[in-house]
Amino acid sequence: MARLQRKRECHVHGTRVLVYKNTSDLFKDAANELFETLRRKPDANIGLATGATFLPFYKYVSSKYKIARTSFSKANTFNLDEYVGLERSDMHSYFTYMRTNLFSKIDIDQKNANVPDGSSKDPKAEASRYESKISRLGGIDLQYLGIGQNGHIGFNEPGTPFGSKTHVVRLSASTIRQNSKYFGNGKMPRSAITMGIKTINSANKIVVIAVGKAKASIVKKALTCKPNKKIPASSLKRNANVTFMLDNKSASLLK
Ligand code: F6R
Repeated sequence: MARLQRKRECHVHGTRVLVYKNTSDLFKDAANELFETLRRKPDANIGLATGATFLPFYKYVSSKYKIARTSFSKANTFNLDEYVGLERSDMHSYFTYMRTNLFSKIDIDQKNANVPDGSSKDPKAEASRYESKISRLGGIDLQYLGIGQNGHIGFNEPGTPFGSKTHVVRLSASTIRQNSKYFGNGKMPRSAITMGIKTINSANKIVVIAVGKAKASIVKKALTCKPNKKIPASSLKRNANVTFMLDNKSASLLK
């Protein structure tokens, strides 16, 4: 009996899409992309995302990077976003998420692990500092992205101009609905600092990961609609360097 394929590759309206039978294979391939980048360019700049989607990814990366004969010791990482008003040590900050799930488990020089500082007294100035640092270091070599149910990438909410650089954003009602579960009874911040849509699309290579049925509708829209500001993820369609990595559920509405 022929072995069932672990993944299939197709193009949806010109965008490269990989659909996996098992999410473990998806995260393994996504991590191998990172390991290959670091082997080729040890001082690469890697763009990172947070959220539920990326927890298994960081688990895999942190447990396998040594076996994969890679090191983060010369690499820089840049996270996509951070809530405004949270101290780095706040249990809900993306800095804490990253420290817990990745930075404390790999050999990265902690000063090269960049997350926008949401506790800055001047978030706009912090956003420009962050953007300048990314360009000063030569831009992002490999960017990982999740996708919000409203089509946001980073915290670029619907309506964000495609030419935007790192900026301060007011979170949309749907993002507040999507993420307030993580804040329990505490009040979720209403704004964030995020890399802009232009910053993201300037990366040499972009990997978008979406898993689960709840993402099926937005994945279909992002891949099949004309690029438009209402769906920030649709900006990726103009970009030949993008691959969507999906499981059967998030890909279920694609023909
Ligand atoms: C987080 C980020 C967001 C998430 C998106 C999906 O750094 O940039 O765009 O990727 O909200 O979140 P999850 O994975 O929790 O569904």
